[in-house]
Amino acid sequence: MSENVRLTREKEIAVVTIDNPPVNALGPGIPEAIQAAIESAAADADVRAIVVMGAGRTFIAGADIREFGKIVRGEKPGRTLLPFLAAIEACAKPVVMAIHGQAFGGGLETAMAGHYRVIAAGAQVGQPEVKLGIIPGASGTQRLPRLAGFAKAVEMCAFGEPIGAGEALAAGIVDRIVEGDLLAGAIAFAREIAGKEAPRTSRRESKLRDHDPAIFAAARAQAQKTKRGQAAPLAAIEAVENATRLSFEEGCAREAQLFRECLYSTQCKALIHAFFAERAVSKIPGIAADTPVREIRRAAVIGAGTMGGGTTLNYANAGIPVIVKETSQEALDRGLAIIRKNYAGSVKKGRLAQAAMDERMARITPQLSYAGFEDADIIAEAVFEGMALKKQVFAEIDAIAKPTCILASNTSYLDIDEIASATGRPEMVLGNHFFSPANVMRLLEIVRGKATSAEAIATCMALARKLKKVGVLAGNCRGFIGNRMLGPYLREAQFLVEEGASVAAVNQALYDFGMAMGPLAMSDLAGLDVGWRIRKEFRHLERPGVRQPLVADLLCEMGRFGQKTGRGWSQYDENRASSPDPETEALIEKTARAAGIERRDIDAAEIVDRCVLALINEGAKLLDEGIALRASDIDVVYLNGYAFPAWRGGPMFHADTLGLDRVLARLAEFEQRHGAEFWSPAPLLKRLAEGGKTFSSFDQEAAAAAGG
Ligand code: 3HC
Ligand code: NAI
Repeated sequence: MSENVRLTREKEIAVVTIDNPPVNALGPGIPEAIQAAIESAAADADVRAIVVMGAGRTFIAGADIREFGKIVRGEKPGRTLLPFLAAIEACAKPVVMAIHGQAFGGGLETAMAGHYRVIAAGAQVGQPEVKLGIIPGASGTQRLPRLAGFAKAVEMCAFGEPIGAGEALAAGIVDRIVEGDLLAGAIAFAREIAGKEAPRTSRRESKLRDHDPAIFAAARAQAQKTKRGQAAPLAAIEAVENATRLSFEEGCAREAQLFRECLYSTQCKALIHAFFAERAVSKIPGIAADTPVREIRRAAVIGAGTMGGGTTLNYANAGIPVIVKETSQEALDRGLAIIRKNYAGSVKKGRLAQAAMDERMARITPQLSYAGFEDADIIAEAVFEGMALKKQVFAEIDAIAKPTCILASNTSYLDIDEIASATGRPEMVLGNHFFSPANVMRLLEIVRGKATSAEAIATCMALARKLKKVGVLAGNCRGFIGNRMLGPYLREAQFLVEEGASVAAVNQALYDFGMAMGPLAMSDLAGLDVGWRIRKEFRHLERPGVRQPLVADLLCEMGRFGQKTGRGWSQYDENRASSPDPETEALIEKTARAAGIERRDIDAAEIVDRCVLALINEGAKLLDEGIALRASDIDVVYLNGYAFPAWRGGPMFHADTLGLDRVLARLAEFEQRHGAEFWSPAPLLKRLAEGGKTFSSFDQEAAAAAGG
């Protein structure tokens, strides 16, 4: 048949198996081969029904995403799956789609073109295209409402979240859940329906009758809120809504048009970049894919504060027993109460069963001693940020931990090598830098010291996946990748208010750019005291005569730490709603005037450029220094740790989108106006811009040089 599609027989049932590793994507030649196999089976007089299934880990993960870029760049012609799907539906013998793993995107569209669908209990179906900035492009928006009704179809197409087998059955997307062997179950099902008239999804009308306009209005409102700034969700809603008034064929034609508009958008390029960037992080030059990975069976956490508590939750959620140690019963009780409250909140919202909460709580052992630490495979330190304390704690755990135990610090800024020097095993010491709230944010920066072993890094990369995080390797420097870049970003936000922009204007400009919140709102949320403590730790490094932001320390000295004290850059009511704080604004103005800073009107475009280009310039320096392995790793850090808008692809991809020559020109303007100290362009950025290159091309060249 084809090397990727096999046709076999189980007596009167034909079995078509798609075998296109790793995820059976519908790459070039695959739809054609599936169609040929189905037609060949249909032509066989001894065949009464046909089962289609995937080999390996999944059914079909969708269209081949790698093809999209080639189509947009004109390197390949666009193609449609519609005739392929029409041919399946037109098959004279019933076609049963047998789903395991995932039927996503074009995979679900293929499944829906079959006459019946059976599904393995643990499998998922979904139309996740919006996460790539596109919409279902092969009848998904038209077949799904015919099977599942408009409410479910809109939810799945506009928001992209997959659903499990039970929900798919309840919605009418599948006909049966198969427990145990899927192929056997699918064949049994095929025998039951063989000879009966096969239903065609495109001709089903009953669920189209109920089209309450409120469904679409509510979905649009939700998309404006949760997918702010993104075009694809709105296009998906429009496409599904078309099924209320257009025929199947007309609906598909309009869907194809909307799909194309999305495909050629910058948002789509950015989101596809983000998809592959996330999958590139685990490829680390010099660390072979077969580097031994230690299994983490037991963990221990030191400190039950903000980060220690979140880290404990991460381990307990992943099924790993975890000890959490504190210095006082009071701190331990407080930490545990927050953990319990967190779980109870999930139970209340129906996201977690009470039994699951009890199981997870039972995995957590709170204590004041190091008892049991000798059995831990990893010890995660999350005590206050301070070198002396960190070194003391690392010396203590080094004396207790077994030789193979990884010693990880959650430090935000401190030198991993200096921390490691307190131990006799620097090769097992690294940073595991979670982001607050640690049980929610997906990012884990894995910070490599100069002695950290490949095994320790590979183990933490694997651990990140187990904890459902995305692990990004960072070199050792003050702030690593994320926080080092955040420094110039927050510095500019503060300089801007000193120069005359209001706090609200700075926050609004970055919010409108797409950040989840503005920089000063973020500082208020994190707590201004956090930065204050860090500035004190590093004060000796400040250079005399170099401008420093002036107001944050003054706010802290007044006890204004942001949301936690009700006042900071803004003021907050009991519901945490913010409003401008006239006293803060007056303090900013007075301080700026006393320092001789010229005050002027500053527009939103300048606010965004000052903050975002400061971020990008620092990112380029990190890349040049080898602190980040790839520009795309920096993007993954910002998308998953700092809520940078996914549809802009991350700061470095955004720079490529702007054009590095334009970025360089704007940096030169700022350098002229605000000084080279802050604005001299990173040498790498300059080199790339002058060579007409991009950060993406830099990554590609580096990957090629590394042989990947
Ligand atoms: N096309 C091409 N490659 C794909 C792919 C796809 N649709 N889906 C996954 N891959 C690749 C990944 O890049 C990765 O490659 P690598 O090993 O070289 O890094 C490999 O498959 C394995 O992927 P994951 O690491 O993500 O493996 P997981 O087991 O964690 O997850 C998955 C598997 C759930 C299928 C996940 O990969 C996924 O969600 N994929 C995307 C699915 C998707 O968005 N489908 C819609 C595509 S658009 C479409 O179908 C349009 C249609 O309407 C016309
Ligand atoms: P926190 O102040 O909330 O908690 C620290 C806890 O450590 C306190 O409960 C304290 O009692 C405990 N502790 C101190 N010494 C101890 C010891 N010897 N043994 C056991 N427990 C001890 O601090 P937070 O915010 O959780 O920070 C912890 C670390 O994580 C710091 O290094 C910080 O820089 C870093 N971090 C913090 C983030 C945040 O947003 N809060 C984000 C990312 C990293």
